[in-house]
Amino acid sequence: MIELKDVSFSYDNKLIINNLSLNIKKGDKIGIMGESGCGKSTLLRLMAGLYRTDKGTVTVDGESDPQDISRKVSVVMQSPMLLPLSIYDNITMGHKYPDSHVEKVVKMARLSSWIETLPEGIHTYLGDRADELSGGQAQRIAIARAMCKNSEVLLLDEPASALDSENSASVLEAIMEYATDKTVVHVTHQAKHLEGYTKIYVLRNGELA
Ligand SMILES: Nc1ncnc2c1ncn2[C@@H]1O[C@H](COP(=O)(O)OP(=O)(O)OP(=O)(O)O)[C@@H](O)[C@H]1O
Ligand SMILES: [Mg+2]
Repeated sequence: MIELKDVSFSYDNKLIINNLSLNIKKGDKIGIMGESGCGKSTLLRLMAGLYRTDKGTVTVDGESDPQDISRKVSVVMQSPMLLPLSIYDNITMGHKYPDSHVEKVVKMARLSSWIETLPEGIHTYLGDRADELSGGQAQRIAIARAMCKNSEVLLLDEPASALDSENSASVLEAIMEYATDKTVVHVTHQAKHLEGYTKIYVLRNGELA
């Protein structure tokens, strides 16, 4: 469950989100579209507890403190942040999971065949190689990380923007399969990525339509 109540947010004095209210029920799949720069990523960051509202409240599964929210949600941001660690550690973020769980998310994020080509497989250190990764590889690691955390709420910001159409279709299909019972908010410019969604909103002038 995600609830935004009269939320406003500005960068300096530039108003991006204007008194916005929104209710997303558990299990809903919500798409958000809108022109570049209209504030979609900003809105997602507010839902992820990465930003604090100027006015109004964001509540996610009963939590309304941004720090508590960020613990409760899985996020794939538009430009994935990889750390100077192994692929494995970038996916698990230092938490312990059963090997079978990690293997499953690696497969779902379509990372297996690439990882098999690496000398040390999933334990390959990314520190020196982070720059050598393709945008698609980085994005798939970020998707695996989000799936690994296995939160009830999944927030996606253009999760397949760096993938070719075949890979993006297959990764998005895997995400939907994984997220059957989860609440999903998916920001994208591509309406075809939102087929079968509960509702699609357009963000314009800081408000949703
Ligand atoms: N950290 C920041 N500081 C100041 N202004 C920012 C910052 N981040 C974004 N903005 C501005 O806020 C507006 C909304 O940005 P945002 O990234 O939310 O848009 P978006 O809808 O996600 O765009 P896109 O579709 O290109 O990803 C833009 O005008 C942008 O320049
Ligand atoms: Mg954006």
